[in-house]
Amino acid sequence: GDVGTRTLAIIDAMKDLEGPLLPILHEVQAEFGYVPQESLPVIAKELNLSRAEVHGVVTFYHDFRDHPAGRHVLKLCRAEACQSMGADAIADRVKALLGIDFHQTTLDGAVTLEPVYCLGLCSCAPSAMLDGAVHARLDAASAAELVQEARR
Ligand code: FES
Repeated sequence: GDVGTRTLAIIDAMKDLEGPLLPILHEVQAEFGYVPQESLPVIAKELNLSRAEVHGVVTFYHDFRDHPAGRHVLKLCRAEACQSMGADAIADRVKALLGIDFHQTTLDGAVTLEPVYCLGLCSCAPSAMLDGAVHARLDAASAAELVQEARR
């Protein structure tokens, strides 16, 4: 179908790169906003990989989504400095408020919640990013505000 054709065009343009799988997956995500299931067998075939290998790479890297993102993307830092400053409690609160887990999107399509591994704001942890804007020193109240903002 259309996804297959567009995926094939991306592969054709990039398959001569050294280590083409990651650049191809990034380009597929740029094209569709996520990595469609239908792209995986096409990529596997063209690169002579098994579907399991391609699937494994997609799930290993946190950058790739398997469904279209919501209108807003909220990323919570899960790395060490943020963990030590209470990121787990923030994450639990945000998940409860949104009613979703990491890598999921609210039913109304408003918010996708994703983990991120260090935003370079370790000295003002815990931190998050909403649609590309960083927010630092989160606590329960400011995390709830961020969720409110994301839902708008
Ligand atoms: Fe969270 Fe660095 S660990 S910003």
